[in-house]
Amino acid sequence: MIEPCQAGSGAIDTIRAYHERTKHHLNGYARGPEYLDWDSQPDPFRRFSSAPLISLPLNPDPGGGVAAFDKAGISKLLELSMGISAWKQYGPDRWALRCNPSSGNLHPTEAYLVCSGIAGLVDAIYHYAPREHALEQRAAIVGDESQSYCLLGLTSIAWREAWKYGERAYRYVQLDVGHALGAVRYAAALLGWRVSLLSPGDTAIGDLLGLSREGDFKGAESEQPDLLLQIHAAGLERLDRLPEGRQWQGRANALGGEPYLKWPLIDEAHQACLEEHPDYTPSRTAPDPTTEGRAQLAQLIRQRRSAQAFIGEQSSLPISQLEDFLAALMPQRGHPPWDLWPGTPHLHLVLFIHRVEGLTPGLYTLPRRSGLLPELASALSETFQWQPTPITSDELPLHRLAEGDLRGVARTLACHQEIASASSFSFCMLAEFDRALERGASAYRHLHWEAGLIGQAAYLEAERIGMRGTGIGCFFDDSVHLALGIEDTRWQTLYHFTVGFPQPDTRLQTLPPYANLVTARPPE
Ligand SMILES: Cc1cc2nc3c(=O)[nH]c(=O)nc-3n(C[C@H](O)[C@H](O)[C@H](O)COP(=O)(O)O)c2cc1C
Repeated sequence: MIEPCQAGSGAIDTIRAYHERTKHHLNGYARGPEYLDWDSQPDPFRRFSSAPLISLPLNPDPGGGVAAFDKAGISKLLELSMGISAWKQYGPDRWALRCNPSSGNLHPTEAYLVCSGIAGLVDAIYHYAPREHALEQRAAIVGDESQSYCLLGLTSIAWREAWKYGERAYRYVQLDVGHALGAVRYAAALLGWRVSLLSPGDTAIGDLLGLSREGDFKGAESEQPDLLLQIHAAGLERLDRLPEGRQWQGRANALGGEPYLKWPLIDEAHQACLEEHPDYTPSRTAPDPTTEGRAQLAQLIRQRRSAQAFIGEQSSLPISQLEDFLAALMPQRGHPPWDLWPGTPHLHLVLFIHRVEGLTPGLYTLPRRSGLLPELASALSETFQWQPTPITSDELPLHRLAEGDLRGVARTLACHQEIASASSFSFCMLAEFDRALERGASAYRHLHWEAGLIGQAAYLEAERIGMRGTGIGCFFDDSVHLALGIEDTRWQTLYHFTVGFPQPDTRLQTLPPYANLVTARPPE
């Protein structure tokens, strides 16, 4: 059962203390397990035993028109957002990759569907089973039976991340939610549908999706509610009131994972961040991608991967491509995925430019909303130059802070990871931390969701410009702040990203995602 949220400064102090304690430092990492036995990794696939399993069709990608809102359309939405994109094999080991990336490929995020009046589907609350590409029918719906609607819920099983990353895992779980949110928005865009965030609060989402049914989770790892989204398409209505489930079926599987170390700090952080009275403003409406753009998007979603290594010499990028990439990360134009993100952006970029034709290597910054430059200048090192670049404009206020070869610095700050230096460029996402937390402790989650959303846009845009990206959750927090001249918590880095030309890993075999299902199932 979800506890009521902690009110006021107690919760904010808790989440600030969590953030401080889970920083990685050059002389020591945040607390985590001392060893890992990969053979006992928690099961990445939640299943509900005895819940009826409804298989989804695997049809070709929609050719560019608006997809019909039926079972086949929903199948495509789930496949291209939370579904499997490939299997990888190395020797006897085989593991799934998904359209949504996840720190350590541990996949804490689960998806649920609540729908009524959709052709081909019984009105019900479903859990999405990505391995089977199927829906598990958890409950029938009590509500107005004449209404047609579709809600998509995202939830997290923090244990999957905590198993590997210990106390810092709560941050990764939230970043992964942001990625999944982006993945859903992009998949809906290619189907010609819109998505908005509903904000009933954590308890209501947990109750709707059955997470608060203790008996169904007995002996299984708990699952926390995150987000509820409404899909908008022709023939679907807006919901005034959330439906309720009845005649629940299914018991959650235990995911395992030894050594079973508990990380109470994660539960404390989560309790502090619970959201009962969120204040999301409704999403804006956005221009839909063009027909051409949609067909390309399906390909980008399917081919998206994290680069494990880059070929430095081939990672040189024309400045015009950097401009396209950065423009896609700016929310002003209201294009997907930014059309669903409410309110003011609170995350801004600091870039380590290594190999971009037409830009001097060095440190650059890109505020993601207008008018922020003076404030940023007063917070960052006094030695910075604030020089405009050939692609600087009102819409893209990119400024150079310092010249120099920062490959060594970037690598060191990203926990000594080569991917931060062998790339074309890498960047960190600086949050207006204190300002956001004035709205309450739950803003800590929203900041990470926004960072994950930027990360998801960055992954797909990197593919679009012929490069490849990788999210970087491991960085030395305060060393980054020191390098930028940040001395207090007004600005904090929450997530890093790197883009370059990928080195293929020839040791790994790649297998198609649902080959077994295509041959096993009769055509729809
Ligand atoms: C929030 C987040 C943090 C990540 N941090 C790192 C990192 O520090 N280093 C790294 O090599 N990969 C990192 N990754 C990449 C994941 O390992 C990768 O997404 C996962 O293995 C799944 O592979 P895929 O992205 O190719 O589907 C991160 C990914 C996410 C979403």
